Amino acid sequence: MITKFNHAAIAVPCLKKATDLYKNVLGAKVSKIFNYTEHGVSVVFVELSNTKIELMQPFGDKSPIKKFLDKNESGGIHHICLEVKDIFQMKKKLLKNNLKILGDGEPQIGAHGKLVLFLHPKDFYGTLIEIEQE
Ligand code: CO
Repeated sequence: MITKFNHAAIAVPCLKKATDLYKNVLGAKVSKIFNYTEHGVSVVFVELSNTKIELMQPFGDKSPIKKFLDKNESGGIHHICLEVKDIFQMKKKLLKNNLKILGDGEPQIGAHGKLVLFLHPKDFYGTLIEIEQE
């Protein structure tokens, strides 16, 4: 079962501009820029007391969010991340219900060093969902 909201990830065309907006106008606490070569994204974390927002910009040519930004030029919510107690149990349940897991279907180490699965937006009302082991 899902237990917590971990983050919303927003794809942005310019990470610097987006960070300035959250920091200087909204007054949010923001992290430095993290470049995740293996995931093809640069990320800034907007840290809130109860959750976080991840501002993401493509990093490198083969970024998985490049297509998304081509379609949504001004940016947009790319995915939300929900935590689970047991990701393998969740995987079983999803497959049993004929729900599609992206990639090879196995939990992978995500950007936070924890196991994650991505679920197809078609199955979840147009929302890409990242399931993360808590
Ligand atoms: Co994420």
